[in-house]
Amino acid sequence: MKQLLIINGPNLNLLGKREPTIYGNRSFVGYLETLEAQFPDVQLRYFQSNHEGELIDKIHELGFDVDGIVINAGAYTHTSIAIADALSAVTAPAVEVHISNVHARESFRHHSYLSAKCKGVVVGLGLLGYEMAVRYLLNDA
Ligand code: DQA
Repeated sequence: MKQLLIINGPNLNLLGKREPTIYGNRSFVGYLETLEAQFPDVQLRYFQSNHEGELIDKIHELGFDVDGIVINAGAYTHTSIAIADALSAVTAPAVEVHISNVHARESFRHHSYLSAKCKGVVVGLGLLGYEMAVRYLLNDA
């Protein structure tokens, strides 16, 4: 069975409550059930943390074993060389996802330290972006 790791960074535990006009009304845990139902033959490992080091630890722990990583590092996207280095260190290919169109928002959201370490980036398609990333990694892996 293929295994993918889905990583959400800071504040994404508040999806559904947090700025719903930007991020929508759906909690990620609720969405994950839909995603799991769509891919019954795939083991989706989900991890969310508000702490940079914990995100890095999880990438180290599973990034040599899973078939791919879907990562929305939240605001760490725009600041974290350490998460970028962790993605470089492991063998699993990664796809970066952003729920909102970061390019249509504040300029500090336009740069990502992670994009260059990822096979691709899905931006602005809402939660559908996670499904797109999963589909890509399953085809590629
Ligand atoms: C986000 C975009 C980031 O700029 C922001 O800090 C987030 C969420 C997105 O999914 O649109 O927390 O990654």
